[in-house]
Amino acid sequence: MSALVTYTQEGDIGIVTIDNPPINASSQAVREQLLSAFEQLRNNADIKAIMLSCAGRTFMAGADIREFDLPEIPAPDPNDIHALIESMQVPVVAVMHGTVLGGGLELCLSCHYRVAQDSTQMGLPEVKLGVLPGSGGTQRLPRLVGFTKALGMIVSGQPISAAHALDIGLVDAIFNDDLHAQALAYCRNITDVDHANRVIGNLPLTLSDTDKANLEQQVNKLPTADKGGNATRAAAKCTELAGSLSLAEGLAYERQAFVACRDTDESKALRHAFFAEREAARIPNLPRDLPLRNIQSIGIVGAGTMGTGIAMSFANAGFPVVLQDLSAQTLTRANELIAKTYQGSVTKGRLTPQEAQHRTDLISTTEDDLQLSTCDLIVEAVFENFDIKKAIFKRLGEIAKPGAILASNTSSLDVNVLAECSGRVPDVLGMHFFSPANIMRLLEVVRCDHTAPEVLATVMRLAKRINKVAAVSGVCFGFIGNRMLEGYLREAEFLLLEGATPSFIDKALEDYGMAMGPCRMIDMAGVDVAAKVVLEQKKSGSLPDDDTYRVVVQRLFEEGRYGQKTSSGYYRYEGRTPVEDTAALELFARLAQEHGITQRTDISAQEVVERCLYPLIAEGYKILEEGIAYRSGDIDTVWLHGYGYPAFRGGPMFYASTIGPDRVVASMQAFAKHTGNAFGYWDIPSSLAKAGAN
Ligand code: 3HC
Repeated sequence: MSALVTYTQEGDIGIVTIDNPPINASSQAVREQLLSAFEQLRNNADIKAIMLSCAGRTFMAGADIREFDLPEIPAPDPNDIHALIESMQVPVVAVMHGTVLGGGLELCLSCHYRVAQDSTQMGLPEVKLGVLPGSGGTQRLPRLVGFTKALGMIVSGQPISAAHALDIGLVDAIFNDDLHAQALAYCRNITDVDHANRVIGNLPLTLSDTDKANLEQQVNKLPTADKGGNATRAAAKCTELAGSLSLAEGLAYERQAFVACRDTDESKALRHAFFAEREAARIPNLPRDLPLRNIQSIGIVGAGTMGTGIAMSFANAGFPVVLQDLSAQTLTRANELIAKTYQGSVTKGRLTPQEAQHRTDLISTTEDDLQLSTCDLIVEAVFENFDIKKAIFKRLGEIAKPGAILASNTSSLDVNVLAECSGRVPDVLGMHFFSPANIMRLLEVVRCDHTAPEVLATVMRLAKRINKVAAVSGVCFGFIGNRMLEGYLREAEFLLLEGATPSFIDKALEDYGMAMGPCRMIDMAGVDVAAKVVLEQKKSGSLPDDDTYRVVVQRLFEEGRYGQKTSSGYYRYEGRTPVEDTAALELFARLAQEHGITQRTDISAQEVVERCLYPLIAEGYKILEEGIAYRSGDIDTVWLHGYGYPAFRGGPMFYASTIGPDRVVASMQAFAKHTGNAFGYWDIPSSLAKAGAN
């Protein structure tokens, strides 16, 4: 095995270096070699201090998460390494850079000193994986920085900057220059002969009344254990116990709690989501060294809310953007939105005024589409009208420079047709951003039948540069996300016709974990927008021959109930607060009567969840059968990042695997019997039937 941990010496300073790319995860082999390195250094009388560093782009960013699937985490135990480091006869100095996370930060907490590059981020993000810091983080961090600060870091999982870490005493020094040289000098200057007093595990910790009040306040805000709050609650408990247990007792309790968390569905789901997100960025069967196109400048056609949000997404990552629109008034509104958004970030302290100005300056607006002709990537983001989009792609084919990538932000239309219109079929694909585009992280990248592989790969790489989570979809109506959404909304509307109220439906799905129920969601996105999608589908002939299909959204649209923006939709609004509206309920009852649907009072929350989610899951299976998505994890990634699907459920496909596809099949069969299946709504895709039979 190649050496993952090496030892060198510079004068009287020993240097232990971990080199396990890409993120120096603490795998079994790393732990074994680290333990052995420190054991060998134990009796080395030639050194006065030991530097513990990592090679590559980051200090250790955590335990190797892949090991969590093993029945037992293989020895050596990180706690044994930490105990050894704490007992070394010379001080050990952790030299941090990059992202020092989880087990990486815990390793540093066992060292006597911690120094960091000024750009370092550090934190204990374990709860985001449904576990808790399992090798001393909940016991040592509060002893070092105080209970309340530690609790905040542990329960939020959010990293902090080196400057903040210096402020709270988590690091002893930060360097902005040559880290190695400065850390070496720091080690040479250590005069502390009795470094045992720097062993964090020996520091006392007592919770003050304020600490206790903060704890209660924090815990009260956490979701319940069965709704994604298991790990955070357990982490808070461990941190609390640091105030009353000895280090050894605390570590033992923490370890037990860690193992219990690791084995929950919550953690399995979150770990699945972590790896699925990274896998989604990979296009199968492409050579790793495929040359990509060089993207330096971005053009955007259409300066509405979507186009402006997309422009800011690129400017935020440092790209110059030309934002083009035929209407001067729309461009003025775009400039106002850009100024307001960046000003808001300055007010909240997220950007300095200089950074905000720089980003604003990167976006130039114009009515003249010829200014797009120098751009490497042009994203069309006009409203969802096929004829207009076709005309734009024809024009882009004429004016774009050779080799430019042409993308459509359509949320549902046939991008193959747009590619044909451009006359540059291999250069065209879809880039479906979600609103608000500068905030939402999902990007559905739509692969047309003849998109050139390097065009697809270039856009996937670009997605990462602009901090988006990308997943590839083939061409079909609505792509992965909106296509699956259709069955979900269809059933929500049928349930309304059958007598469930919007608030009952929304609550059932929000209790399941959805960020927002379907009625609130459409009211927020706009009933008009949702109705137009249905009308486009009608035009394209892809709607079932059922006059009750999505009749609710269409009728709300006809009645001018556009949702939040008109203060009435599925609900009526008092400010932004949705209130059940008798007029809407009467409308649903009237529609039910018109369409011969009997209203009933026995609809349960469980029926709502299953009726809405199972068609969505079934559509996911169809999408896989048709090769629209490469992998089921890609589908989960789309739903987790674009539709508010609860991360602790791992996405709809993962959820189906946890409850069992047989249960989904049985339930769908029962609904088919109960509601009838004249239009094939409850047809079971063959792959789902097969999975259910296994
Ligand atoms: N274990 C195993 N693999 C990991 C990993 C980990 N902890 N962290 C990242 N990786 C892998 C990724 O899967 C990816 O692999 P791939 O190239 O094959 O897809 C590769 O490392 C690079 O990761 P990213 O694409 O995410 O690289 P970025 O530079 O964008 O981000 C990062 C780097 C910020 C470190 C990010 O990967 C991250 O947040 N990782 C998770 C960190 C974490 O949660 N640490 C705590 C782990 S739990 C723990 O330590 C328990 C302890 O308390 C006992």
